[in-house]
Amino acid sequence: MSSIPMLDLKKQLAGIRDEVVREVLGVIESGQYILGRMVGRFEESAAAYIGTRHAIGVASGTDALALSLKALGIGPADEVITTPFTFFSTVEAILYLGAKPVFADMDIETFNIDPSKVEEKITERTRAILPVHLFGYPAAMGRIMELAGRHNLKVVEDCAQSFGATLGQNARKTGGFGDAGAFSFYPSKNLGAYGDGGLITTNSDEMAREIRLLRNHGSSGSYIHQSIGFNSRLDELQAAILLVKLKRLDDYNEKRRHKAALYNRLLSGLDGIKCPPMGEDGGSRHVFHQYTIRHRRRDAVKEKLRQQQISSMIYYPVPMHLQPALGFMGHKEGDFPCAEAACREVLSLPIYPELEDAEIERISKIVIGV
Ligand SMILES: Cc1ncc(COP(=O)(O)O)c(C=O)c1O
Repeated sequence: MSSIPMLDLKKQLAGIRDEVVREVLGVIESGQYILGRMVGRFEESAAAYIGTRHAIGVASGTDALALSLKALGIGPADEVITTPFTFFSTVEAILYLGAKPVFADMDIETFNIDPSKVEEKITERTRAILPVHLFGYPAAMGRIMELAGRHNLKVVEDCAQSFGATLGQNARKTGGFGDAGAFSFYPSKNLGAYGDGGLITTNSDEMAREIRLLRNHGSSGSYIHQSIGFNSRLDELQAAILLVKLKRLDDYNEKRRHKAALYNRLLSGLDGIKCPPMGEDGGSRHVFHQYTIRHRRRDAVKEKLRQQQISSMIYYPVPMHLQPALGFMGHKEGDFPCAEAACREVLSLPIYPELEDAEIERISKIVIGV
């Protein structure tokens, strides 16, 4: 039996190889590698796709989060409410600015921050809410924006895993709800570069102007610096590759949804297994960056899959509040029971557009058999 990886980017390349090679060569021959035509074109296309006035390319998803928070004026003594069940950089970005991450537990069914737990965390120091659209499932933005409006808070959406996900009757894209949306183009993402990259979306002209300064040493013109910024630019090669893939993103995401629906058909209703929701209310769409189940015998399932050369991953084994690096925050086990339960039970199974239905059937049989 052949092995099945979590993701196979070589299979994706097979379908776009000629175009990617042509575009990459075009950039190399142009002699312009930083903040040139391709970045501009990609930013325009991405803003049109997400439905925001602006999209600004930066060097990574982590930088997209940090620069968004900085442009909103968040700094020392400010509190930012976020989820304890996410990738570490959500929290790192808050700490880079000297601000304090404050956790509100997640909803075990959706893996996203639970809006009903956010309000009790708001203090006079709270400046922003940072929801994560984890695994590609849109967070409850309606309720989060309502809370933010009532308490005069900013909202930065962590869209690292949710490029193309939509929410609500009008199928609004994630990244278009808050003051800013922060995207990652890490290669494994639904829209992935061949290296690092990130993007910030916003409807605010002022924020866009500020972020364009911040990403390039605070520079407003040749060697004129308006502020202390960073070197955080998306490069031309990555922008050219992302343009090729953006055209195909809806198709890629639809295929991911088809794979997830098949897994759900095969696995749902079985004892000890909890499948992820498809997120299909109105115009909402989950884009399944990960297909993540909860399983009572998670470790045994993982081991059985490994024996059959099938990859699976635990995203994430330790919640943010129990991370060694955040020990100084003084949290303890039991503080966020839903996040802790998720960390004990989650297992992400292979999902990517080129994964074959027969492979999903093979994986599911093993999962059911444990
Ligand atoms: C939820 C989440 N936030 C932020 C990031 C950071 O993105 P990057 O790796 O591009 O810095 C990632 C992914 O890596 C992520 O999964």
